[in-house]
Amino acid sequence: MAKTKTSFFCQNCGAQHAKWLGQCNLCNEWNTIVEEVIQKEEKRAWKQGSISKKKTNKALKIIDISIDGEDRIPTQNKELDRVLGGGLVKGSMLLLGGEPGIGKSTLLLQVALNIKKNVLYVSGEESQSQIKMRAERLQKSNNNCLVLTETNTQNIFRTIEEMHPEVVVIDSIQTLHTDTIDASPGSISQIRETTAELIKFAKETATPVLLIGHITKDGNIAGPKILEHMVDVVLQFEGDRNYTYRIVRASKNRFGSTAELGIYEMQNVGLREVENPSEILISQKEEDLSGTAIAATLEGVRPLMIEVQALVSSAVYGTPQRSATGYDTKRLNMLLAVLEKRAGFRLGAKDVFLNIAGGIRVDDPAIDLAVISAILSSNEDETIAQDICFAAEIGLAGEVRPVNRVEQRIVEAEKLGFHKIFISKFNKITRTNFNIKVVKVTKVEDVFANLFG
Ligand code: TYD
Ligand code: MG
Repeated sequence: MAKTKTSFFCQNCGAQHAKWLGQCNLCNEWNTIVEEVIQKEEKRAWKQGSISKKKTNKALKIIDISIDGEDRIPTQNKELDRVLGGGLVKGSMLLLGGEPGIGKSTLLLQVALNIKKNVLYVSGEESQSQIKMRAERLQKSNNNCLVLTETNTQNIFRTIEEMHPEVVVIDSIQTLHTDTIDASPGSISQIRETTAELIKFAKETATPVLLIGHITKDGNIAGPKILEHMVDVVLQFEGDRNYTYRIVRASKNRFGSTAELGIYEMQNVGLREVENPSEILISQKEEDLSGTAIAATLEGVRPLMIEVQALVSSAVYGTPQRSATGYDTKRLNMLLAVLEKRAGFRLGAKDVFLNIAGGIRVDDPAIDLAVISAILSSNEDETIAQDICFAAEIGLAGEVRPVNRVEQRIVEAEKLGFHKIFISKFNKITRTNFNIKVVKVTKVEDVFANLFG
């Protein structure tokens, strides 16, 4: 019998240590080191195939390297293609992370059923009949999609060698295990080894592999950090449980931008692609209410009109509460300090709550001006008309700063029927013949004076 070997792994950064330590000396986290059984054999699972018997690679001049014509496979899912930058790159590894029940399996099954390629959908979490039930719910069927329930990579590669799929989906990486290592599925060494095997397979056969990954309670993909370094694309699937909207964003993309968003709506027949998100992100209401303002933001190249809601009330307890949903609380505190110090608004003894409608999280700093306007509107109990929107960043001196691609934002606001947009005076715009009134401001007070007089 082979000797059992163990090693110590940091659960935070994946570093391997010879002995147990209280603190990982690489990432300095405490109590993250666990012992795992490893039994290294030289052979990795994806080696049996004929392709792997290739000789070593030769160095080539970059001008001599040829790229095959069609190097991307469109997923037939517009939102996903947008995030990926035009489809799946051949031989790439994609990792999709997200909370349990958010819809990861649904999304990738939908892709597997729609894509016009031979797909192998490997599930270690659900049985074949459960997957069939899900496919029926999605009202889709596809002759080219094979479903395998298996967790052993050696067996998976055996099936792959038989059927030569053009796309492989693995649900999920945490359920896989390889025979070359004794550790249990989901452990760091198993995740690392099975991913390495799949990468080797993907690169050698130019087959894209889509992995589903679980996340830990603080939102990171479970497993070693190097998992994210190993794959080509890391996608996050997010959304608020109380809303039906789901957002896919890339936190890493070797073949495209990470600024793009894909927006879906979870329906009872699966995920619907949302093509015109602005309309759903602005809540419908009959009358103007104080404390709401609309921001003209950009996610990637796509403009999004987003509603910001604020509630300012006198603090009941000594320390005022500040809380924000969908927006950075630290940034909210900064904006409140700017209002207090630069514009003389007494908000120090007020509770401030902020909410971005639709459960969406926004990174675009152009939302700042709408945040400030919503806060002031709630504080003054004065409404902002529904046909006004905002697009500017706020600086620490209370100055209204320019944002990128402002014309695109103005055009989107105009298209959606807004009559007035506030931007920074320092934003250069070349076009002037807009049907929407463009108000240029330099300081927070100007906005206040303009809105509430
Ligand atoms: P699932 O894809 O199983 O999530 P994950 O793989 O990320 O854990 O999604 C399950 C949730 O989605 C579940 O709560 C039911 C819901 N759902 C729908 O609302 N409509 C549908 O058509 C499907 C298939 C699932
Ligand atoms: Mg699942």
